[in-house]
Amino acid sequence: MSTNKHLIAPSVLAADFANLQRDVEMVNQSQADWFHIDIMDGVFVPNISFGFPVMNAIAKHAKKPLDVHLMIVDPDRYLQACKDNGAEVITVHLEATTHLHRTLAAIKELGCKAGVALNPHTSVQLIKDVIQDLDLVCLMSVNPGFGGQKFIPHTYNKIKELRQLARGVNDNLLIEIDGGVTLDNAAQLLEAGADVLVAGSFVFNAADPIDTVQKLKDVDINIKQA
Ligand code: DX5
Ligand code: ZN
Repeated sequence: MSTNKHLIAPSVLAADFANLQRDVEMVNQSQADWFHIDIMDGVFVPNISFGFPVMNAIAKHAKKPLDVHLMIVDPDRYLQACKDNGAEVITVHLEATTHLHRTLAAIKELGCKAGVALNPHTSVQLIKDVIQDLDLVCLMSVNPGFGGQKFIPHTYNKIKELRQLARGVNDNLLIEIDGGVTLDNAAQLLEAGADVLVAGSFVFNAADPIDTVQKLKDVDINIKQA
């Protein structure tokens, strides 16, 4: 079976913040499906990105859903603010959340899709007991905090293991890959079972970002029947 139903989510972290509206319009015009919005607090990760005023400005121009990746400690404090500033998908880090089940319920209560992100060192087995409560799992394929890092190949194994874990329990689960995604690894990620590819520097630093999104969207694979 052949498929190209996967989603592409350009990460605005790699946009030109002095020309943010221009870059948002580029994503609008492209074949991208979502805007990936990286919020960092300088505590959970060793970097600070941008906060809700900037997210709100993006939301005013964005014609596609905002997929918000919270790299912050105790994210429960900001779920309402995420919703109020335009989030449709809210993803929290397992490593930054004490009561994940409660947090996921709170995200859904707001009418958003609920996601959990796992750092490269975190086993997918740790989410076995909430897998039925999740809309999305974001597997970090770099250590979070910065764009433009090198892809960690062990991610392929994690995708396969997670797909196996979700089988029969949550067959609609979206597996998102975040960090170092390029045309060199996109096909292999999709073959392993990924549904959403986040790409920051590969899209925004490209000579032709719209064409680059198109190429990521057009990656076609042969799914082997299990
Ligand atoms: C990293 C962020 C990523 C980042 C991806 O902490 O979560 O979303 O923007 O950037 P690239 O695609 O450049 O690795
Ligand atoms: Zn991200």
